[in-house]
Amino acid sequence: MNQAQNRTVLVTGAAGFVGSHLTDRLLELGNTVIGIDNFSRGTQGNLSRSLLDAGFRFFETNVCDLSSLRNIFSSYEIDTVWHMVANSDIGAGVADPNVDLKDTFLSTFNVLVAMREANIRKIAFASTSAVYGVHEETLEENVGPLFPISNYGAMKLASEALISAAVESYLERAWIFRFPNVIGPRATHGIIFDLLTKLSRNPADLEVLGDGTQQKPYLHVSELIEAMLWICEHAKDPLNWFNIGPPDEGTTVKEIAEAVQKQAAPATPIRFTGGNKGWVGDVPKFRYSIEKLRRLGWSPQLTSRQAVERAVQEIHAEFQSAVSCSS
Ligand SMILES: NC(=O)c1ccc[n+]([C@@H]2O[C@H](COP(=O)([O-])OP(=O)(O)OC[C@H]3O[C@@H](n4cnc5c(N)ncnc54)[C@H](O)[C@@H]3O)[C@@H](O)[C@H]2O)c1
Repeated sequence: MNQAQNRTVLVTGAAGFVGSHLTDRLLELGNTVIGIDNFSRGTQGNLSRSLLDAGFRFFETNVCDLSSLRNIFSSYEIDTVWHMVANSDIGAGVADPNVDLKDTFLSTFNVLVAMREANIRKIAFASTSAVYGVHEETLEENVGPLFPISNYGAMKLASEALISAAVESYLERAWIFRFPNVIGPRATHGIIFDLLTKLSRNPADLEVLGDGTQQKPYLHVSELIEAMLWICEHAKDPLNWFNIGPPDEGTTVKEIAEAVQKQAAPATPIRFTGGNKGWVGDVPKFRYSIEKLRRLGWSPQLTSRQAVERAVQEIHAEFQSAVSCSS
């Protein structure tokens, strides 16, 4: 049987950007999905499709509350936990390290404790390019040393380390996905969402953090979901870790700002705040190798620019529909 079909699985962060797309796809594949979210960033709206599906159960719960997790995990015969919860605001974690300690690290610790007690032996984990820190060379999975420059990246790296230790003692299999920048509809954060939010507050000024030369890989969320499912189906080691990314070296912040400007506010000037990074903890440039994923048999279709163009249209349409609903 396919790894991701007709099973009972649990998704943490199910109301978030990635978690809600993942939940919809897992339901489509015939799984029963137990979703957990505390709505700190996720929304009811992101669950609108899944809530109509008889195979979906939802718990509004904080994963830092271990006793709630224990109750949920022990109530179902869960095959795999897809752990998507984390703090997704890197800046918030720089301002207050407790944010990433709790939502990015303790969340993983608690999920693993509850899995062990309920004898759930497979985890699929959303990690990030931020674990690598700053490197000149193309980021292959075995590049090192790993010195993240944000609390977020540090707590994700620590989570990967916990999962590795759990594989040694009680997990049967773990899949660690190192995401690039992921974009698409239902975004709760990220550059396109931020720029459109700024324009909706002040249509006369498009402020862009940094000097626009930051260059990173961008992947559409639909491709991310298919890549994760492919990895779970085909990577059979006890511990599997993969970069997931587009087939190119990325696109610049300037190009993304221009795509947003063209779509949403052609007459509004772009104003760069200057400096080579957007915020403390931002890795301004990185290149991702996806050769390991290609060797496993999966390749992305969309370039970073194509993914950006599509996501700008999709997120802009969501903003417009929110405005027309509220007026
Ligand atoms: N989107 C990206 O570009 C990107 C890049 C790299 C890694 N990731 C990782 O992918 C995962 C999903 O990210 P996303 O972009 O969908 O972010 P998101 O913020 O939309 O999703 C995270 C979800 O977790 C929920 N959550 C946070 N803390 C919680 C807690 N303590 N208890 C219960 N729920 C909680 C939030 O409400 C949210 O719905 C995260 O682990 C993130 O670190 C995302």
